[in-house]
Amino acid sequence: MVSIMNSDWQAYESTHTWHPYTSIPASPAPLAVASASGVYLELEDGNRLIDGMSSWWAAIHGYNHPVLNDAMIDQIGRMSHVMFGGLTHKPAAKLIRQLVEITPQPLTRVFLCDSGSISVEVALKMAFQYWHGRGRKKHRFMTLRRGYHGDTIGAMSVSDPDNGLHKMFSGLLVQQIFLPAPPLLTDDLLESERLTETRKLFEKHHKECAALILEPIVQGAGGMRMYSPQYLQILKELCVEFDVLLIADEIATGFGRTGEMFGCNHAGISPDIMCLGKALTGGMMTMAATLCTATVADQICASEPGVFMHGPTFMANPLACSVASASISLLLDSDWKQCIQSIEAQLNESLSELGASRNVDSVRVMGAIGVIETHRPVDMKAATAVLLESGVWLRPFGKLIYTMPPYTINKSQLSEVARTMAKLAAL
Ligand SMILES: Cc1ncc(COP(=O)(O)O)c(C=O)c1O
Repeated sequence: MVSIMNSDWQAYESTHTWHPYTSIPASPAPLAVASASGVYLELEDGNRLIDGMSSWWAAIHGYNHPVLNDAMIDQIGRMSHVMFGGLTHKPAAKLIRQLVEITPQPLTRVFLCDSGSISVEVALKMAFQYWHGRGRKKHRFMTLRRGYHGDTIGAMSVSDPDNGLHKMFSGLLVQQIFLPAPPLLTDDLLESERLTETRKLFEKHHKECAALILEPIVQGAGGMRMYSPQYLQILKELCVEFDVLLIADEIATGFGRTGEMFGCNHAGISPDIMCLGKALTGGMMTMAATLCTATVADQICASEPGVFMHGPTFMANPLACSVASASISLLLDSDWKQCIQSIEAQLNESLSELGASRNVDSVRVMGAIGVIETHRPVDMKAATAVLLESGVWLRPFGKLIYTMPPYTINKSQLSEVARTMAKLAAL
């Protein structure tokens, strides 16, 4: 074993391991990371890359942050994990209080789970159980086209059925109700066909739908699409009018990424259920949360079977709770709004002129998110060579070249990221 690890561990790994959305071996071959610090990924071959991805939106404070490290080391000395069934602990209590305080009111009941996809499953089950408790048979969900909510079977069923990652599973999934995709910021917001179609679907299906699930303000992995707060308000109003709960999936948008603490804050709305993940622990541990109102929770608890039917083994893992608390405090103690605004201004300045380039379809920026959409899919092999040469890490998918850097990135590092995005767009 030791000899394999010391000699050619990468060859062994590549013939035995799945990476996200790859075959075995993965192509192009994954880059081997030896360590990470600040905004840098240090590769085994000695190269150093500025991370423009924050490890899929999560590492908002950068890597190897002493405050986050200390929180984990301190917690390891007490206990890394105990079951949450029949037991509880201070790290969970502290985190739950923070989450209740920073999320839109009145989200006051919290379920801590393992990953974003699972928090979506939990949200769907909460909505179902709420209506079940009220004696209503609402067993389907509404969702927006171009959305993405995760890779588990329930989460896939509410993700875009056509454009995306899950098309081949359609025969396996519950057929949900897909509302039109929200208009991009450059589209006509109140374009009547879209709204008429949306309203019609509410009229036709609200009796069988427990909730509408959506990503507020920015649709992430389904297309990196930004839309207006006013459109979100319209959808919220339809949910109220038609007795459909609203689930806000803030797994990607939460914790400041869009310029507000949560996407819902842009619209001044509060959902009935909210999912959080990714940046919850500052990218240090896998953990997610599903919050709901007391109304939803009370109904679930007051009716058969009198409990919420979910309980994962690693629920409320104390190590993850401790580092999540530390990450939230670090964010709140920083001038995060100003920081996101200056990232947004710089991304706007450096990317907007690329909109006129031959290969580029459009450029979109919101908060600490910068996107270039090209006319044809990015050649990943050529892109990897450009990334290594430029000393920047990005992970384009399809026609989308995007960055969501750690909030701690400085101006010259962000310039490197933007320059590299331009090079990728020119491939
Ligand atoms: C909006 C949204 N929801 C859910 C998920 C799934 O989260 P996870 O990958 O942690 O399961 C993602 C992941 O990209 C996401 O962006």
